[in-house]
Order: sequence, then structure tokens, then C-alpha cells
Amino acid sequence: MMLPPPDGPATPSFDEVLRRRRSIRAYSGAPLSALAVSRLLWAGQGVSGPGLRTAPSAGGSFFLGLTLVAGDVADVPAGSYRYEPGAHRLVPLARGDLRAQIGDAGIDDQPWLSGPQFQWKLDLRFQWKLRQV
Ligand SMILES: Cc1cc2nc3c(=O)[nH]c(=O)nc-3n(C[C@H](O)[C@H](O)[C@H](O)COP(=O)(O)O)c2cc1C
Repeated sequence: MMLPPPDGPATPSFDEVLRRRRSIRAYSGAPLSALAVSRLLWAGQGVSGPGLRTAPSAGGSFFLGLTLVAGDVADVPAGSYRYEPGAHRLVPLARGDLRAQIGDAGIDDQPWLSGPQFQWKLDLRFQWKLRQV
């Protein structure tokens, strides 16, 4: 599934983001747009130049990947997906709303863990090959 291009309105400055950032545990319940998810995935592991990503990586190996768990994202059926940075697309892994299971996997009683419209997980992807620099 192709994602919309991760372009959009100008983002606030890095200083402002740091000042305003907070952990939240209550969610509006409104669906998240596919564009918002596209921009977040790109920010996390997207391609930022030839052979380069938005996140650094040891030896340019890029063995970290993102898995999206979509619960309520417009135009993205509920399920989990592997994010492919090169094509900026989602590859389906499992169907259905997995948010309750994620909530159950939390330590202690933390009901808000099943609340967000989407979650992402950082995966190790062992197609390990150090680039010669
Ligand atoms: C490694 C790590 C684990 C965390 N685990 C939880 C958690 O299990 N439950 C939770 O409600 N918040 C968790 N937090 C969020 C912290 O409680 C929160 O960052 C802290 O209270 C400071 O608030 P702020 O993020 O709004 O500045 C975690 C944060 C980090 C960095």
C-alpha cells in the first residue's frame, strides 16, 4: 500500500518541539490521517537522500525498521504493516485491530496503552551488511 508523499505544512522549530513535547495518555478518538502517519514514518526511518535515512545507523547498515500498528487511520485498514522506506509504502503483516493486545502486553495496569489510533515498533532487521566508507 503506497503512502501519500510525506510533504505537508511547515513544522514548528526543533526548539519549539522540545519545549512542547509531553507524554500523553488520553486520546481524542478522532481517526489519524494517512498523511500524518506518512509524515511520522518518514520522520522515523524515511529516505532523506541517496542511501541515507532520517535516522542515523551504525556503518550505514540501517538494520532498524518500523512496524506500524494501525487501529484507526484513515484509508489504512486496521492491522500491522512493515514500513518500506525506499518505496515509502506499507507491506501488510497481520489484519485486524491489535490495539487491545498491545494494551495487554503493557507492564501493570495501563489502559491508555490500547488508546492511540496507531502505534509503531522499532524492529531489528538483520540484513546486516556494513557499508565500506
Ligand atoms: C523508557 C521510558 C519508559 C516509559 N514507560 C512509561 C510507561 O510504562 N507508562 C507511562 O505512562 N509512561 C511511561 N513513560 C513516560 C514517562 O512517565 C514520562 O516521560 C515522564 O513522566 C515525563 O513526562 P513527559 O514525557 O510528559 O515530559 C516512559 C518513558 C520512558 C523514557
